[in-house]
Amino acid sequence: MKFFIDTANLDQIREAQSLGVLDGVTTNPSLMAKEGITGQNNIIQHYIDICEIVDGDVSAEVIAVDFDGMVKEGNNLASLHPQIVVKIPMIEDGIKALKYFSDNGIKTNCTLVFSSGQALLAAKAGASYVSPFIGRLDDNSTDGLNLIEEIRLVYDNYAYQTEILAASVRHTMHIVNCAKIGADVMTGPLSAIKGLLNHPLTDIGLAKFLSDHKKGN
Ligand code: G3P
Repeated sequence: MKFFIDTANLDQIREAQSLGVLDGVTTNPSLMAKEGITGQNNIIQHYIDICEIVDGDVSAEVIAVDFDGMVKEGNNLASLHPQIVVKIPMIEDGIKALKYFSDNGIKTNCTLVFSSGQALLAAKAGASYVSPFIGRLDDNSTDGLNLIEEIRLVYDNYAYQTEILAASVRHTMHIVNCAKIGADVMTGPLSAIKGLLNHPLTDIGLAKFLSDHKKGN
């Protein structure tokens, strides 16, 4: 499973990249705003900065919600750097835009996906990635992991090439369960990625190894 980090924070992106297990970055307008990145020029420069830190795909989201606007904005974003993936919302014009970009060889990430029907449409439109938001479903008393399972089944039935990018991942067990179910990618915060390191028996075992080594020397 690929690991993407879901942030626009450059320090956290650098830290994740330095671990050597990072495959890409996802951002969205809320994450950009959280870092105080506002104004078109700053936003564009920030995407370029992120691409220069990581080796993999970097999702950059369009703000337009009409087909012409999404095509114009998406083409501009895609021209910034070869690693840019154009992030398109799951709306009617978004489906048309996904098809346009797919026909023109530009990678896309279909965002704000909350049902397997939406995921099926995104795959038919040729999306490179589909982003089901599992944490936000959990927030609404609906099991987000069930949706990943359903989409996996649907995509496998027809060998769709669209990669399932589990988004809105909040904690380590989301990551582990996504891996068990067969999500192609997960995007989550640095805390969830680093949380995978933790086990008290590892800490206890290491302390014992080091103290025994000291005794023997
Ligand atoms: O980037 C999309 C998604 O991962 C957002 O997550 O935590 O705001 O629901 P969250």
